[in-house]
Amino acid sequence: MENRITQVKSSGGSAAWASVFAALYDPLLWVGETAGVREYRKDVLSRARGWTVEIGSGTGLNLPHYPDDLDELVLIEPDAAMRSRLERTLSRSGRRARLVDASAERLPFADRSVDTVVSTFVLCTVDAPDLALREIARVLRPDGQLLFIEHIRSESPTLAYWQDRLAGPWRRFARGCRCNRASAELMVSCGLELEDVRESSWHAMPPIVRPLIAGRACPTTNTGGEFDG
Ligand SMILES: C[S@@+](CC[C@H](N)C(=O)[O-])C[C@H]1O[C@@H](n2cnc3c(N)ncnc32)[C@H](O)[C@@H]1O
Repeated sequence: MENRITQVKSSGGSAAWASVFAALYDPLLWVGETAGVREYRKDVLSRARGWTVEIGSGTGLNLPHYPDDLDELVLIEPDAAMRSRLERTLSRSGRRARLVDASAERLPFADRSVDTVVSTFVLCTVDAPDLALREIARVLRPDGQLLFIEHIRSESPTLAYWQDRLAGPWRRFARGCRCNRASAELMVSCGLELEDVRESSWHAMPPIVRPLIAGRACPTTNTGGEFDG
């Protein structure tokens, strides 16, 4: 395995806003976390096993919820401001994990080498979710799994309309987050099969990011890729 540095595109504004957003991230999410998302994290992450790679780890809100007996935990985070907070959370947690500066669109791991990939509130933010999902399908072992919690495009035409209308300003505020992305459909079209998917609501958050899905997806095909780490 190799650590490959990949620069994330600056889709979400200036470096100054990146630092402010990273500082505000945990306080902004706090109400939503206590209103249910912390329980979803606990539930979904209890299924992590083996060699586990989390993409877009942010400030490290998932760290307390991983089982203790993972073979290895690798945390991928391309944003420097988020990564420095993640480093602090990790050292306070006493957990062993490796931080890697890379992007989900180009994962520095060999084909079929990873048991579990974790993505929580990340597929909305990556610039090329189709590439990221194909990368996930590529690196997962045939019996591997993607564990996810993502906010998604609403099935309600009215809410979807407002998600489209507000997508631009929301994206600028939330560092590249697309509130209207149909991530479940994307997973399926990129070689993953959905299993045990739970639809829910991100309580206490703005309506445009409330529709949530949480669950597990498995690779339908492992097509291999051009990059072997
Ligand atoms: C909304 S935050 C989610 C953080 C964390 N996963 C959580 O559950 O709180 C989105 C994260 O994805 C990261 N990110 C953005 N683009 C990415 C990419 N192309 N590859 C991997 N991570 C990315 C951001 O830097 C940010 O930390």
